Amino acid sequence: MRLKSKKIILGITGSIAAYKAAMLLRLLVKESAEVQVVITQAGKEFITPVTLSALSGKPVISEFFGANDGTWNSHVDLGLWADLMLVAPATASTIAKMANGIADNMLVTTYMSAKCPVFVAPAMDLDMFAHPSTQKNIEILKSFGNSIIEPSVGELASGLTGKGREWKNPKILLKLLLNISIQESTKRKTFLVTAGPTYEKIDPVRFLGNFSSGKMGYAISEELADSGANVILVSGPVSLKTNKKNIQLVKVESADEMYVKCLSWFPNCDGAVMCAAVADFTPVVVEKKKTKRGSENWSLELQPTIDIAAKLGELKSEKQILAGFALETNDEISNAKKKLESKNLDFIVLNSLNEEGAGFQVDTNKITIIDKSNNQQFFELKSKKEVAVDIVNKIKSIIK
Ligand code: CTP
Repeated sequence: MRLKSKKIILGITGSIAAYKAAMLLRLLVKESAEVQVVITQAGKEFITPVTLSALSGKPVISEFFGANDGTWNSHVDLGLWADLMLVAPATASTIAKMANGIADNMLVTTYMSAKCPVFVAPAMDLDMFAHPSTQKNIEILKSFGNSIIEPSVGELASGLTGKGREWKNPKILLKLLLNISIQESTKRKTFLVTAGPTYEKIDPVRFLGNFSSGKMGYAISEELADSGANVILVSGPVSLKTNKKNIQLVKVESADEMYVKCLSWFPNCDGAVMCAAVADFTPVVVEKKKTKRGSENWSLELQPTIDIAAKLGELKSEKQILAGFALETNDEISNAKKKLESKNLDFIVLNSLNEEGAGFQVDTNKITIIDKSNNQQFFELKSKKEVAVDIVNKIKSIIK
């Protein structure tokens, strides 16, 4: 069921490894994927469309036009329909056509219309695979953002032994595909990340703040951006900078400003990671003039700020992911669980101030991730950059 409601195009070309496509197709359908097979003319010499349509439960597509009945297959519709396209096995000739836009068959035209992630599993004789033209074309496909499932080394149909054999076992191919699709799951998604402290003004020269450096939130934003996501980073006052082109930095000062920005961005996001150390209280009155020194005690009346994470938890749709942080000093796990529930989070990242090397200002962190199914993952003390990888991996495993 791991590919439930995933729409997959399985492209099959003229390689002896085409027989493995039937087994792979069976596995994909077993994982509840909806699979449309598109096969080249040469592919049909190796495996029959009857077998493939019986396994996929759909007619196999090969030609642009129906048999003299005026119908035609729209590669554009098909390309847009798919969540994922896999060309397995991919011959040197099909790889060359894909790399160079030679759109003379249904498979290559569909590929060129597809907007989804594309995976290519080359299968051919070792010399053909090693040939500079094939290697160059593979590099071109990689530069288009396509994922290449490297062939394995083994005995080839030619009798020679070397690199060129498509994965021996389609189960391995499926596993790889599932892994890659998890890795790819943040691509083209948009995430809101909050970071840093907030400053709550007391008078023109004073504020209430905290020691948050923003390092954790910035590291998460950069990790998300590196994995292909767009990031809206709503940041309180920090000295950090980021120059990644897919991070949009929105600077705010107070909890209220952070709330307003988060509220306007969140509906257009696939998820949010609430990393900011938002002030829980703000002065009821902001003095217009600087309060002068005196001999009397000075009492400030504070009012609670809006809980931004909890507000987003109320607004969150089925498809959105919401993650929060809990910085605790005592009863860490039970306090974190309470926050997970009350803010309607998908998971919470707990860091305890009792752990050496965790918390504000430092470059390291030691976290526990607790999700809403009460899975608990304990991590070692790591750099905040490495912690960001663990957190983004958790996001990927949820949205896969
Ligand atoms: N948070 C928020 N808005 C607030 C307060 C907190 O979005 N006004 C978010 C934080 O970014 C974090 C989570 O809520 O992801 C938990 O923050 P934390 O300060 O640990 O907990 P609080 O809910 O503020 O509770 P307390 O301070 O009493 O422990």
